[in-house]
Amino acid sequence: MTIQNDSVIRVLQGKPVTKTPIWIMRQAGRYLPEYRQLRKETGSFLSLCKSPELACQTTLMPIDRYDLDAAIIFSDILVVPEAMGMELRFEEKTGPIFSNPIRNENELKKLNVNQIFDSLTYVFEAIELTKKELNNRIPLIGFSGSPWTLACYMIEGGTSKNFETVLKMMYCNPTLLLNILDDLTKIVTDYLILQQKHGADILMIFDTWGGILPFQNFNYFSLQFNKRIIDNLNQKGILNIIFSKHTFNHLPNILKSNPSGIGLDWTVSVEEAQKIIKNKVAIQGNLDPTILLTNEKTIQLEVKKLLGKINHRTRHIFNLGHGITPSAKPENVEVLIETVHNYR
Ligand code: CP3
Repeated sequence: MTIQNDSVIRVLQGKPVTKTPIWIMRQAGRYLPEYRQLRKETGSFLSLCKSPELACQTTLMPIDRYDLDAAIIFSDILVVPEAMGMELRFEEKTGPIFSNPIRNENELKKLNVNQIFDSLTYVFEAIELTKKELNNRIPLIGFSGSPWTLACYMIEGGTSKNFETVLKMMYCNPTLLLNILDDLTKIVTDYLILQQKHGADILMIFDTWGGILPFQNFNYFSLQFNKRIIDNLNQKGILNIIFSKHTFNHLPNILKSNPSGIGLDWTVSVEEAQKIIKNKVAIQGNLDPTILLTNEKTIQLEVKKLLGKINHRTRHIFNLGHGITPSAKPENVEVLIETVHNYR
């Protein structure tokens, strides 16, 4: 089945496009009044994720509003540990919380690592429904957290300021941590492949906490596992994007893991990144998300500044350098997309 607007796919494949495509991390989120309304009616974020119909409806909210070049399935990275048996809730101020974080071998052994996908059928159904609704207008992106980023939440029990528990485990019980990462790598690989089988056109790995690792430990605890996942996807010809936040130091090694595209956070110099990547893979990013809190003029100026730094041959998918924040103004998103699409 051919996709009418396949510009994101073409950039990932290294084919020419007539204008820079754009999508936005967390594009279906709290900055949209229709999202806040639906979440209020549904009662919780997780019930939204777990209803294929509502997840599909939410995925399409930004697509109906804006001229975006890709959709990303509405879900969360933490539904995977939940399916492994970890009780999860989201609290308004604190964010995600696991009631029983993993701290020792016994707690790891209790987790379900083999048949978790029966508990995730709602994700696959949401993907199927969304594909049908999109009717091949634009591609659909599926995703997972990286093993390291999932482990951070599973061990800390939620978001953390200093990630002391997981980093301490890295020094005091690396074997346990490596066992968790190994289990997660197998699960994430199968999960992404299943999303593709159910219709996802591109798969993205969110390694949000890759950048908290000491330099010499990044490959051992994060990248080597992502590379295993990417190798599997590449073997199957599945397009993939890796976003490892605050890891500019590791860009040459991330490049060696051979993804189809690399997401850059907003602190990265795109000029330096292009020198390293040399157009071997696509780049995605990296506008500071805060710019969406400003005004039309500032957005236009900053987008043009960024696009001005991108070599005309560079394979580039425009995005923010991290997820859009709840305080972003919906009308500013329109300005952003228009400015990117009209840029020559
Ligand atoms: O990009 C998209 O639009 C797809 C949906 C998506 C969500 N989470 C929805 C969501 C995606 C791709 C994610 C990924 C995700 N989830 C990551 C990696 C990307 C990143 O932002 O770093 C992480 C670390 C999580 C874990 C998570 N989920 C946290 C820490 C939080 C609370 C903080 C916050 O922003 O509220 C969530 C909740 C969450 N995930 C919301 C949404 C729309 C907000 C839920 C709500 O309050 O309605």
